[in-house]
Amino acid sequence: MREPGANGRFGEFGGRFVPESLIPACAEVEEAFRDAWADAGFRRDLDRLLTVYAGRPTPVTPAWRLSAELGVDVLLKREDLAHTGSHKINNVLGQALLAVRMGRTRLIAETGAGQHGVATATAAALLGLSATVFMGGKDMARQALNVHRMRLLGAEVVEVTSGSRTLKDATSEAMRHWVTCVDEAYYCIGSVMGPHPYPWMVREFQRVIGAEARAQCAAELPKAVPDYVVACVGGGSNAAGTFAGFADTGAQLVGVEAAGGAAISNGGVAIMHGHRSYAIQDADGQILEAESIAAGLDYPGIGPEHAHLHELGRARYVTVTDGEVVDAVKRLARSEGILPALESAHAVAWVLRAAGTAELPAGSTVLITLSGRGDKDSNSLMEIQ
Ligand SMILES: Cc1ncc(COP(=O)(O)O)c(C=O)c1O
Repeated sequence: MREPGANGRFGEFGGRFVPESLIPACAEVEEAFRDAWADAGFRRDLDRLLTVYAGRPTPVTPAWRLSAELGVDVLLKREDLAHTGSHKINNVLGQALLAVRMGRTRLIAETGAGQHGVATATAAALLGLSATVFMGGKDMARQALNVHRMRLLGAEVVEVTSGSRTLKDATSEAMRHWVTCVDEAYYCIGSVMGPHPYPWMVREFQRVIGAEARAQCAAELPKAVPDYVVACVGGGSNAAGTFAGFADTGAQLVGVEAAGGAAISNGGVAIMHGHRSYAIQDADGQILEAESIAAGLDYPGIGPEHAHLHELGRARYVTVTDGEVVDAVKRLARSEGILPALESAHAVAWVLRAAGTAELPAGSTVLITLSGRGDKDSNSLMEIQ
């Protein structure tokens, strides 16, 4: 997985489809990121924070009992053990350091499940910045714990009441707000989406997941590389970071979307939130509302590099239903003592369904990125018990 080409494109996807007033802001972020990424000092500062603050490297844990039950060897990359409880902290520490380097005093962000919002509020507190987080009203209700965490950390949480009151609307509102304050605020996007350079930059900040997992699998597995690498996909940042570590191997890359927001499996090409990619839409090309039990996957689109990997045939995108996801949470909790986030449970659910079939033959080795922990979802799960 390489740098995007001309105009920030991965094949025909990506780009920079934003209002005229945001073009210089995106160009400034791109220049600052290129400069920082080439600077050994910036890399050292970020690596140090990832180690001494975020708790990296996260382990790879063999799922011993589940493997025996399924007849495939399952390894779990434990992003649930990173500080704040998900992979979102990796990206946010990188972007927050960049914001400071650019002289910004304020972070703005969108959030769905609240994990990106919590990570942003955390990094802002750590680095002495202020933070404003846009969140859909429906997500604020189902992820109330994370709203509380963000406020305790000192962030302002702005309720978005338009549309489906989920991540799509929060993103639109955050972008609208950015137009009004580009000079003082840095827009910290939470996934591999948005205008160039965000999809590329966020993948680079999440590459640490795949790089660590590659070395850890080499130590753990007789064949060094797993046969399958599986991750859930909302915008697709945990999947992109994981895939980046294995794209040059023979591993099959599998991205798991929510059935009710399956941009690749059920969608078509569209322009949304500053880039060209896949999104679910009606016959007139209007973007449809996604519907998923997992707030972080309740998004009608997908990041442009995933659209490109799909078209190249390098990665496969599949879907699972909410029912399968709830079963997967319970199964992993009871067989391994690990309560995954509803988002992460999508990846587990596909492995549960496919293990022992032609899709995932018995005897295969499978790495699943567990993008986050399930504490935040206790309320949602209690409601459906
Ligand atoms: C735990 C967890 N996993 C996955 C996601 C989906 O994001 P992405 O596809 O960018 O990894 C989220 C989003 O909030 C999340 O909180």
